[in-house]
Amino acid sequence: LTSPGTLYGVGVGPGDPELLTLKGLRVLQSAGVVFVPVSRPGARSLARTIVDRYLDPSKQRIVELVIEMHDDEAGLAAQWAANAAQVREVLAGHADAAYLTEGDPLFYSTFIHLADAMRQQEPDVSIVVVPGVSSIHAAAAAVGLNLVERDERLAVLPATYEGDNLAEVLDNFDTVVLLKVASAMDRVLHLLEERGLSRHAVYVSRCGWPEEQIVTDVLSLRGRRLDYFSLLIVRRPR
Ligand SMILES: C[S@@+](CC[C@H](N)C(=O)[O-])C[C@H]1O[C@@H](n2cnc3c(N)ncnc32)[C@H](O)[C@@H]1O
Repeated sequence: LTSPGTLYGVGVGPGDPELLTLKGLRVLQSAGVVFVPVSRPGARSLARTIVDRYLDPSKQRIVELVIEMHDDEAGLAAQWAANAAQVREVLAGHADAAYLTEGDPLFYSTFIHLADAMRQQEPDVSIVVVPGVSSIHAAAAAVGLNLVERDERLAVLPATYEGDNLAEVLDNFDTVVLLKVASAMDRVLHLLEERGLSRHAVYVSRCGWPEEQIVTDVLSLRGRRLDYFSLLIVRRPR
């Protein structure tokens, strides 16, 4: 290679290693360097665990990118700037690199921050996205639930569901998917009960992992400590 390398953002799917796309597999196996996001040095990377069987550390370099929680924007920006510089250094050495993301890279993923920071430093940097199966699609398949059909509307909300936002969405969409639901479950259950929707919700945690759980009696989840890798699908009856 004589030109700078390309960064591939590779979606590895939500857990089942067989849900990696053929393109994702080819890109992963041909990348000279594979970056894996970790919450602290030496920590286990979920994305890496999913595709570990396809990597070959004797032929490719596997490099951790540490992504810590930051309360302040400046700390977060500095972290991404440093990570972006590290990836750009590899590309400048004419190697292609892959960055692993759980699910899809453009769907609530750390890859978005990395790609933004890299483009800020070097607008023409070569970045290619290889889409992955999102947790939503894998969960719907695991449950055997139609997400939306005909002219129905789907809403996706992450995390805290501030103010009246969630109530309004529950009232106005046919299907609502709540990501990062673990920390907000009790409040969510209250809203579902108020609307007679608790029987129309299903909880999926660790979809595609051996410990996958599907819970249709969602009220039984009240007060329980739940896995961060979990979501709730609410489907209004027709
Ligand atoms: C930061 S987002 C990442 C989304 C991911 N990029 C995707 O395409 O699905 C993390 C949230 O996605 C959902 N999630 C990701 N993987 C999951 C899985 N295997 N089972 C259930 N929910 C999952 C959970 O709601 C979790 O809190």
